[in-house]
Amino acid sequence: MIGIFDSGVGGMTVAKAIENALPGYDTLYFGDLARTPYGSKSPETILRYARENTEFLLSQGAQLIVVACNSAASVASDVLRKEYNVPLFEVITPAVEKAVAETRNKRIGIIGTRATVRSAIYQKKIESKEASLQVYSQACPLLVPLVEEGWLKKPETKRILRQYLAPLKNHQVDTLVLGCTHYPLLRPLILPRIGKKVSVIDSSEVLAGQLVDFIENSPDLSHELSRNGQHQHFVSDLTSAAQAIADKIFQRRVDLQLVDSPELK
Ligand code: DGL
Repeated sequence: MIGIFDSGVGGMTVAKAIENALPGYDTLYFGDLARTPYGSKSPETILRYARENTEFLLSQGAQLIVVACNSAASVASDVLRKEYNVPLFEVITPAVEKAVAETRNKRIGIIGTRATVRSAIYQKKIESKEASLQVYSQACPLLVPLVEEGWLKKPETKRILRQYLAPLKNHQVDTLVLGCTHYPLLRPLILPRIGKKVSVIDSSEVLAGQLVDFIENSPDLSHELSRNGQHQHFVSDLTSAAQAIADKIFQRRVDLQLVDSPELK
């Protein structure tokens, strides 16, 4: 079973891409709605949440973990890789690879939560691939709550986005990384505001492609992973807004199951 976690509903964009790329493989999603947002919390707290989420997924039978949250990946993926003996994928590396391959003018913009931007992980990873690339990052702390509220078309959301994107437009980036898995839900609002010529990158499909390659090249794992076409979705708090967004992302009625565990509080 493939275990996937995020702070809330955003990582479902990644889970959906994995379902599409690996039809039949069982997936188990955990959205930590009771503790979202992660992006405004300290690295220590995010690391604790990431460990607890990983342990929850492993306790449910996950054999491979996908950190579908940039904020958690930026502070926790190296630690999780060392501590847990399972293959671990995260959303940052695939987005970096795609951005480096796509930029023409060598100016890449990153939007993400405060935690992700503060970690400078995108900057470090991009510069280690090609030192001549310029990276401009913008923290967008208001976007995750707007997405979790389902404010995907509101004029207020459009105005806030215009303000966040203005500095990146001034820097003339030709590539923009959606460095938070909630942001693909705002893509229709982001595209016209950053400009048609800018290539907007969302890591979910690249990550799903990497997962397909990895599984195809790991005969033992591909044999062991269960394939009953089962997709389970757990959350640490259940709200009607989350339900509506989950149904929208998966384009079907999703059965969100509430986990009531003292370890996830
Ligand atoms: N989807 C998470 C990310 O990719 C959201 C972070 C948050 O909860 O603030 O960063």
